[in-house]
Amino acid sequence: MSESIIPVSEAVAKTALVDEAGYEEMYRKSVQDPVAFWGEQAKRIEWIKPFSKVKNTSFDPHNVSIKWFEDGTLNVCYNCVDRHAETKGDQPAIIWEGDDPSESLTITYRELKDHVSRFANVLKAHGVGRGDRVTIYLPMIPEAAYAMLACARIGAIHSVVFAGFSPDSLAGRVQDCDSKLIITADEGLRGGRTIPLKANTDAACEKSPSVETVVVVRRTGGDVDMKDGRDVWYHEVAENVSSSCPPVEMNAEDPLFILYTSGSTGSPKGVLHTSGGYLVYTSMTHQYVFDYKSGEIYWCTADVGWVTGHSYIVYGPLANGATTLMFEGVPTYPDASRHWQVIDKHDVAIYYTAPTAIRALMGAGDDHVTKTDRSSLRILGTVGEPINAAAWQWYYDVVGDGRCPIVDTWWQTETGGILITPLPGATALKPGSATKPFFGVQPAVVDANGNYLEGATEGNLVITDSWPGQMRTVYGDHDRFVQTYFSAYPGNYFSGDGCRRDEDGYYWITGRVDDVINVSGHRMGTAEIESALVAHSKVAEAAVVGYPHDLKGQGIYAYVTLMGGEEPTEELRKELVQWVRREIGPIASPDLIQFAPGLPKTRSGKIMRRILRKIAEDSFENLGDTSTLADPSVVDNLVEHRMNRA
Ligand code: WTA
Repeated sequence: MSESIIPVSEAVAKTALVDEAGYEEMYRKSVQDPVAFWGEQAKRIEWIKPFSKVKNTSFDPHNVSIKWFEDGTLNVCYNCVDRHAETKGDQPAIIWEGDDPSESLTITYRELKDHVSRFANVLKAHGVGRGDRVTIYLPMIPEAAYAMLACARIGAIHSVVFAGFSPDSLAGRVQDCDSKLIITADEGLRGGRTIPLKANTDAACEKSPSVETVVVVRRTGGDVDMKDGRDVWYHEVAENVSSSCPPVEMNAEDPLFILYTSGSTGSPKGVLHTSGGYLVYTSMTHQYVFDYKSGEIYWCTADVGWVTGHSYIVYGPLANGATTLMFEGVPTYPDASRHWQVIDKHDVAIYYTAPTAIRALMGAGDDHVTKTDRSSLRILGTVGEPINAAAWQWYYDVVGDGRCPIVDTWWQTETGGILITPLPGATALKPGSATKPFFGVQPAVVDANGNYLEGATEGNLVITDSWPGQMRTVYGDHDRFVQTYFSAYPGNYFSGDGCRRDEDGYYWITGRVDDVINVSGHRMGTAEIESALVAHSKVAEAAVVGYPHDLKGQGIYAYVTLMGGEEPTEELRKELVQWVRREIGPIASPDLIQFAPGLPKTRSGKIMRRILRKIAEDSFENLGDTSTLADPSVVDNLVEHRMNRA
């Protein structure tokens, strides 16, 4: 990894919110006296009833409990919409750029208030109230933001499901939180292709008896079935409701949303975030990490189906009264210049994307970039996976013309907001390093036994104390929350990531140390893909691991043992790939499937995944101790027929 250092740009530092000394000073205060620090920072949002208690948190595994600003009351939607509609109603809140380059829309804060209030009234008219769960299965259209904010306005809890997920994945998420209502669209549109969202929703509903209402937003005008008594067109019902809807007074610790995410084991977990702390944290990080200045156009290319879309397309930017750009399409449609054209078209100052997109666009050649202007750009960001030094350098030199600092932001669905990151005016950059902790965040590196490691070192990344944006529980399963995050290293939050800390105290995230893989910045549980595979009638057993992939970061490598008598054909391989796509969604498609007569297991029957990972990486010379295997000969067969010959 490159250890070159890019000093803070003087031009950026001149106007930045904090410089290097400022960061050190403010960081010191934030960890020495978190109560004073966060009590002060919480003033960035408007409270209905002020809180008297700032922090009440415990990471003790016998009593994990996380509460911030617990007796304060507020409305998140009011903070993101109404207060700006009052002071800067004509400023664009959302700029929407369609899949087709000829389509875009600007929604001012005043208009946003109207849209959101109307949406909230539609939900109310269909019996949705405080605490009810609403599933949102929408493409990247403004209605996705309206729907989320409408839930927040009336105290309902939204659960956004990424529109690339299958009917089964949607049904699982609807059932887990018992949603009564789903908001979807006729079809999604990405890269010129349609996605049958309503048809997927119909299929999911067959398995989800809790659903009473499906609200359908018209996007493409494509033909869909509407079920009498259950399905309504949004544009029709919205005509019959008022555009005024008072925001409901909510407690700081009332749930704001559930977002399902993959873990090492079992089905996806419903990560629960609450209102006050989450909003304070996303708003503060959005302002400081991107050095956001009022009036600037800010663009995060994530999908609202992931946490990055929640925190840094919707809640953080809107809480700050920013202009947030929402893009429906893909980076390569109509061609690989699209992102740079969007930046020029809308004068984007801050651009936040994923390393996988950077690598893909880098592969398309510099011409696509250099023929565009991009002089509006000021700050670049990345998130979702480690960025390799070559991609970082290209992003810096070619996209940013060597002028724009890159903020490599490390965080997770669970953390609600960015935890480790440079600040543009304060942090010298090292390509590939997420650098330093944000205010109030106390990372530590532990060894396998949970001992804190000092100085320059490598190990597992934990956080030793709470921050306001932290998830509060797994929806409906607090034990799973405690087990997953607080049992491995008692007294700490365990991230599941490995990391290195260098002699300057910079953090380098090395990737997951558990059975979670990161494919094109999408987080996948290997266990989920395995259970999809074994659901196929010809599959007896499956083991899935990640392997290094030039574009995707990690690829999906599946070892499959067939039922007795089944033939391992090329056709079956293709069928299994299609099968997983259908069961989970295209993002879970295995890249490589190896038919394995047997899997390496210990005598007690546990699959030795370490060996499978090595073979998938094509580094089988050093497989370590295989003497504990029940049948060491299976390994030879796996090596002989390995699929990745790097
Ligand atoms: C990985 C996305 C390296 C990490 C916000 C983490 C990163 C997982 C970075 C969370 C980064 C995220 N550098 N790795 N800057 N950002 N990750 O929940 O493995 O979808 O645990 O949240 O992505 O993925 P999630």
